[in-house]
Amino acid sequence: MKHLSLQIAVLLGISTFAFAQAPKGKGRREAPAASSGKVRPYQNLWIPPVLSGKVIDLSLNKTKKSFWAGATTATYGYNDAQFWGPTVFLNQGEAVQLRVKNNLDEVTTVHWHGLHLPAAMDGGPHQLIQPGGSWTSSFVVKNNASTYWYHPHPHELTQKQMTYGAGGLIIIRDPIESKLALPRTYGVDDIPLVFTSRRFYADDQFSFEGDNDKYGDYLLTNGTLDAQVGLPAQLVRLRILNAEIERGYDLGFSDNRTFYVIATDGGLVDKPIPVKRMKLMVGERVELLVNLSDDKPGASLDLVAYNSGQVFGFPGSEPGRGGVNGSLLNNLDFGMLHINVAAPTSQRLTKIPEVLTRNHFWVESEVNARRTLGIYKARGGSTFSFDYKPFDMHTTNHVVKLGDVEAWTIDNDRTFGHSFHIHDVQFKIVSRSDGPVPEYEQGWKDTLYAPSGSRVVFIARFDDYASDTDAFMYHCHMANHEDSGLMGQFLVSRNPASLKRNSAGVIQFRDRVEHPLTPAMISNIERQAKTTAPAFKTADLNGSSLSFAALTAQKSLVLYFIERECPCARDAASFLAQVQAAYADTCTVVGVINADTTTAKAWAETVGVRFPIIADPDCALIRAYGAERAVYTTLVAPGGVIVKIYPGYSAQTLKELSASLARLGRISERVLALEQAPQKLVVGCPLQPIEKPLVAKFQ
Ligand code: C2O
Ligand code: CU
Repeated sequence: MKHLSLQIAVLLGISTFAFAQAPKGKGRREAPAASSGKVRPYQNLWIPPVLSGKVIDLSLNKTKKSFWAGATTATYGYNDAQFWGPTVFLNQGEAVQLRVKNNLDEVTTVHWHGLHLPAAMDGGPHQLIQPGGSWTSSFVVKNNASTYWYHPHPHELTQKQMTYGAGGLIIIRDPIESKLALPRTYGVDDIPLVFTSRRFYADDQFSFEGDNDKYGDYLLTNGTLDAQVGLPAQLVRLRILNAEIERGYDLGFSDNRTFYVIATDGGLVDKPIPVKRMKLMVGERVELLVNLSDDKPGASLDLVAYNSGQVFGFPGSEPGRGGVNGSLLNNLDFGMLHINVAAPTSQRLTKIPEVLTRNHFWVESEVNARRTLGIYKARGGSTFSFDYKPFDMHTTNHVVKLGDVEAWTIDNDRTFGHSFHIHDVQFKIVSRSDGPVPEYEQGWKDTLYAPSGSRVVFIARFDDYASDTDAFMYHCHMANHEDSGLMGQFLVSRNPASLKRNSAGVIQFRDRVEHPLTPAMISNIERQAKTTAPAFKTADLNGSSLSFAALTAQKSLVLYFIERECPCARDAASFLAQVQAAYADTCTVVGVINADTTTAKAWAETVGVRFPIIADPDCALIRAYGAERAVYTTLVAPGGVIVKIYPGYSAQTLKELSASLARLGRISERVLALEQAPQKLVVGCPLQPIEKPLVAKFQ
């Protein structure tokens, strides 16, 4: 074994770095000198608490944690965690709501890494949560059983928020995995392991100087420094996430034992794959089985990163001890987790299963389209880019047709290795230019290692979720690279040819608030107030009949006109669902959308609306009401007279609507949680050129 003495020393928690060049950088916490005789004791591994159910509440907080005796470090954590966050358990097939509150004093987002869901629910850089604000992501869990994670994704703030500790695991269960004889007692024989490393200043705070802190000096295992864990002498499952900013790991055990890969990023592999070493790059997950049933209680072993002597471009292989590219862990084999073998539990498994599942992967012959993405160092610059193009939040870089099977080639230049991640899909790696695809990578993946100077090809199918306004991201998962622009975005569209391009041929995203009220809209609104609303008799998406007379016989009617592609309309819908819930006894909310039944159903599913919706593909009802399609709400009093038209939404307009409903129902006003609503009026996207803005009048 290479570096035996060094490794043993590191595993024992004894610093050997006194032999190395002293770290540079001002005020950085250095390793104690070997002559000090100080040995850092192991600390017991923290196991993140569990959150489960169909409604999950997460809040991101500033907090602190003690990593070093007698000192505290400022950190971020979700819920009560002092670093990192709870593990969220979800079941395949369930409709879930994940509600996130941002208690930071800067924007954040929460991205559900690896999950297949509508782009608007993805928590990428477009789904910003303002300081003090909240955001709800509702979706149906479609992924296979495996280990996923959540983390912040606000553009240019991702590295910072991750450095402070924001993140958490997601464990999905499904019927196939549940039937297998696999360890699944969380924290006992099924152990979540999140690895990352941090550099500290001498005052024990995290060093955060962007690219300078891509490599930490000290490994944290679930946020625990020098972690140890007691594991029963039986089959044990380790769910490992590389949550580093940039460092990769070459995983193995100190006694060089064989262990078994049972799941990759997006699900079980067909059968357990025996390995002695495997690389795990930033953002990647793997589930391992380790058989401890022949180990004696009292014995110990270590999970080790065999990172010394890697080829150029392996992140963390740079030999320096300090500076931008160095760290106290670079180019070393270091212990990641000290395992103390304990007595077996009563539910002990001892056999590696032979078969796990039968995956159907997309193959070459099914490919409808191909594209190549180059990871190139910007000409004359220092940052990385896709195809020399800087990242732009308002530009669509690629459009994929819904349902297509595509082959993507990631072409990495010779500058360095990267960790490529794509949202929305799980893919299958089909080839690597630098050799065969390792067996342990031959399962569902959402993140892959692109070594320096290599080409990697994967195949994915872009299914289920289309939107011409909400994009998915792809990027390098090294947060420092991502923040500096090694990111792009793609739309999955039902009809890519219909997307509007500007004169340069670029598809741009509309900004949400760039469509203020026009004088025409305002006079229309004023003209209609106090007139009798047009009657209608139609059916909702489920075929239940909706008649104007019946709807207005006893209750107020809130007609909500929806432009199907407008993100503002979608956001407002969730508020109107709250209105419906709060005023159920005195009003009915009905949505009217400019779409056919199939599209309308897909929209309703995406948004998770609970009120009836009328598909109005020819805009007949929309026209009858003189409504702009997006975010245009008409309140009709019992009996049928229009009370007021709300041409957009904001906390203020929703409060007004609420007050009017209370007045009409002769009830007291119901309190709605409106902290998510924009303070400024959002009028939506009428998809028509807008004349002069008149926003002020309705704010
Ligand atoms: Cu784990 Cu785009 O992210
Ligand atoms: Cu990168």
